[in-house]
Amino acid sequence: MPVMSVTTRQVGPCIAAEVEGIDLTRPLSPEDVAAIHAGMDRYAVLVFHDQKIDDEQQLAFTRSLGEIEHAIGTGLRDEQGYRLPTTFADVSNLDKDNQVFARDSRTRLFSLGNRLWHSDSSFKVVPAKYSLLHARSVPSKGGNTEFADMRAGYNALDDETRALVQDLICEHSQIFSRQQLGFTDFTPEEIERFKPVRQCLVRTHPVHKRKSLYLASHAGGIVGWPVPEARAFLRDLVEIATQRQFVYSHQWRVGDLVMWDNRQTMHRARTFPAHEPRDVRRTTLAGDGPTAAQVAA
Ligand SMILES: [Fe+2]
Repeated sequence: MPVMSVTTRQVGPCIAAEVEGIDLTRPLSPEDVAAIHAGMDRYAVLVFHDQKIDDEQQLAFTRSLGEIEHAIGTGLRDEQGYRLPTTFADVSNLDKDNQVFARDSRTRLFSLGNRLWHSDSSFKVVPAKYSLLHARSVPSKGGNTEFADMRAGYNALDDETRALVQDLICEHSQIFSRQQLGFTDFTPEEIERFKPVRQCLVRTHPVHKRKSLYLASHAGGIVGWPVPEARAFLRDLVEIATQRQFVYSHQWRVGDLVMWDNRQTMHRARTFPAHEPRDVRRTTLAGDGPTAAQVAA
């Protein structure tokens, strides 16, 4: 067996690389696992083309890299409406019978929040580490996923702003991201389920110690700041961090698996024809712990 079968080739800006020489249907060697983590640390987005894997193989690959984060109570599908087990985040536009959601479906409209820049699970006390998205079917056009390098965003701040953000704590909730799209009819149960959590605005990577902005459309407030001032400031930061030179846009092919580090990037889905199926399945690696102390309920 070769010492390292994984090779990476940079695509687009320094955020992303394509991985060659690996077959995700087979168990990874410890060297492969180490090479993938090293690639994630260096780039933050890795692209694996032509991976004909099924759900079990995607789960096995994900587990070889760490502990899985379950998707429970994070969307508006009820338990009877799940198409996939909770080891997957079902970010397709399909119901449990594999039919495209009606245009006015509440589940669909809620999920359109993914069109806004975000970091997966930043609305959880322990936010996600990596996300792994595998394309089973893709629409005829559109539907790219864009990734922004939040290390570059941090580096682009002027000295005064960098000092200002250093110790700020934000409040994240899916209610804040959906409000931006005019989705506001939450039930009392949903308001309770989606209550805000606290996250640091600046994160330091545990391995290479580079700092990054930890932003998302889920961020709706800064502790100690008036809400409109906080939201205006967060918008400014998002604008800085998502300049085109910091963004890699992934055009999906069936069989692509794209893995990204939610601690160092934001992403967003782009529009596509609403009546066409887009079956993409996400597994998620759990983060190491909270980024900030929470307030008692
Ligand atoms: Fe996402």
